[in-house]
Amino acid sequence: MCGIVAYYGPNQAYDFLIKGLQRLEYRGYDSAGVALLNGDLRVYKNAGKVSELEAIADNQNVTGTRGIGHTRWATHGEPNSINAHPHLSQSGDIALIHNGIIENYDTLKKVLISRGHEFKSDTDTEVLTHLIEEIKEEEQVDLLEAVRLALNEVIGAYAIVILSKNDPNTLIAARKGSPLVVGISENEGEFFLASDATPIVEYTKKVTYLDDNEIVSIHDGEMTLKTIDNVIKSPFIQELEISLDALEKGGYEHFMLKEIFEQPKSIYDSMRGRFDPVNLTFAMRSLVEYSGKIRNLDRIIIIACGTSWHAGLVGEYLIEEFGRIPVEVEYASEFRYRNPIITEDDLVIAISQSGETADTLAALEMAKEKGATIYGICNVVGSSIPRITHAGAYTHAGPEIGVASTKAFTAQVTVLTLLALGIADIRGKISKKRLREMFAELDTIPHKVELLLESCNEKCKEIAAIYQDAPNCLYLGRGYNFPVALEGALKLKEISYIHAEGYPAAEMKHGPIALIDEEMPVIVIAPKRNYYEKLLSNVQEVKARKGKIIAIVTEGDEKVKEIADHYIEIPDTEDCLTPILATIPLQLLSYYIAVNRGCNVDQPRNLAKSVTVE
Ligand code: AGP
Repeated sequence: MCGIVAYYGPNQAYDFLIKGLQRLEYRGYDSAGVALLNGDLRVYKNAGKVSELEAIADNQNVTGTRGIGHTRWATHGEPNSINAHPHLSQSGDIALIHNGIIENYDTLKKVLISRGHEFKSDTDTEVLTHLIEEIKEEEQVDLLEAVRLALNEVIGAYAIVILSKNDPNTLIAARKGSPLVVGISENEGEFFLASDATPIVEYTKKVTYLDDNEIVSIHDGEMTLKTIDNVIKSPFIQELEISLDALEKGGYEHFMLKEIFEQPKSIYDSMRGRFDPVNLTFAMRSLVEYSGKIRNLDRIIIIACGTSWHAGLVGEYLIEEFGRIPVEVEYASEFRYRNPIITEDDLVIAISQSGETADTLAALEMAKEKGATIYGICNVVGSSIPRITHAGAYTHAGPEIGVASTKAFTAQVTVLTLLALGIADIRGKISKKRLREMFAELDTIPHKVELLLESCNEKCKEIAAIYQDAPNCLYLGRGYNFPVALEGALKLKEISYIHAEGYPAAEMKHGPIALIDEEMPVIVIAPKRNYYEKLLSNVQEVKARKGKIIAIVTEGDEKVKEIADHYIEIPDTEDCLTPILATIPLQLLSYYIAVNRGCNVDQPRNLAKSVTVE
């Protein structure tokens, strides 16, 4: 939910901190702050975005070769300068930044107040800073030990970095439940820390991802690793695969538009090397390793949030159609608390672009504790979900910076398609002929997406200009495109702030039809595949009530085009693959409407890219 960065080395820290925070702003942008150690420990922080912090700090002599930085999505305490991170201890000698939630902060705060501590902010983070100093003084231990003892008293999730005026050659970091990456420079004694790899990759590709309950100490240019139980560990160092240009906007006005246009490649990458269309085999390690389990599966449960939950609904239709296994799709936030029935025979699949969504992670941990086999479909390598699952498949969509998920969704649906086909193959539910057809069609999808982006972009701009001030919008779809209707509605509402709802098309007559009038644009996803005639009837029902129809139709369609007010054509494909194509114009439509409305497309109000708190 928040973004944290830190620098330790021979150079000035400030530039890395500011640039790093700008790369992490998609994680939250209510307030931002930095602390630098240069003899003195100086903090610069402010409500608002990193650019506003820069304006403040730039006019001052901000120096120091140790520094920490934070961009916030408020959880405790409103987004103002007082609650902005970094926070200082009672003496002001220790500075700390934090991503996560200290659940027992109130109890700890009361004890500290009873010992004379005074707090400036309403945050849980400030309590941790005071606790560390209290322990350091009371127990007469060094900073690392004080942090370790303090974290043993904490309940909750954290990724923290600490600087101390009295320990100028030390930087301490720790993680539990929130991500933290340490970049190891080729330059001796130089380290870069961040919530994810994007701020680090241009400086070094050598990184280590902290695991839960690990504390890293950088002292006199040496890095050591231990657990909060005081067990020394050796860091697992790996090479980053992200390229720097993948992080830039590449000439697009917004990351979201860039990521929409990256989909031919991201869809291709999500299936690259995972099946052999000639020998009709799969090369997904997880399918091979768990084929025995898959053969005897009685049920699959898919858990996710938001857009990933919509992908899960498509996954349900795919796996039930091809694999003939019952699938339940659950909102992770509901699943984790309703004491669901989970057995060792269950396969629980978590879908998450960030791999850090708190509700999804917690629901998955619960399923694991109850004995289920857990599987992850994530986009961020090394994120928390893939680190706890028995098996999984990365979507390989590349960094998704725009808060509104686009390429991650189509990559998730592509991976779910492969998973459904693989499950069907293992369980003997699909003929080789049908498998060959599906592989052949899957191979054409990246190019079909490329053609579609070229053909529909201008049309989407035109339609967006007409409906940019619509007060509401209804999205209708059937079968595989019912989840696409939900996803299209979510895209529109989260970036343009227009209220929109997705519905199964047949469900409209059970209530929503009362909303239809000439002010109501209705987007109907009506490919010329399953349910076509029924969708035609739904379009006529809307027209009869003067609703405005924007139809997503198959190229060459005649009937729906005749009665729709506007239509966008998509290439023909297998019914089960239409979600990948139908979603593209809905993404563009939402994008252009939001741009026309002057909305902050990449960082919509109240949202953050990764919801790592409940
Ligand atoms: C999608 O556009 C939203 N930003 C949001 O619903 C997102 O899909 C949801 O928070 C889940 O995130 P995850 O895929 O990283 O778990």
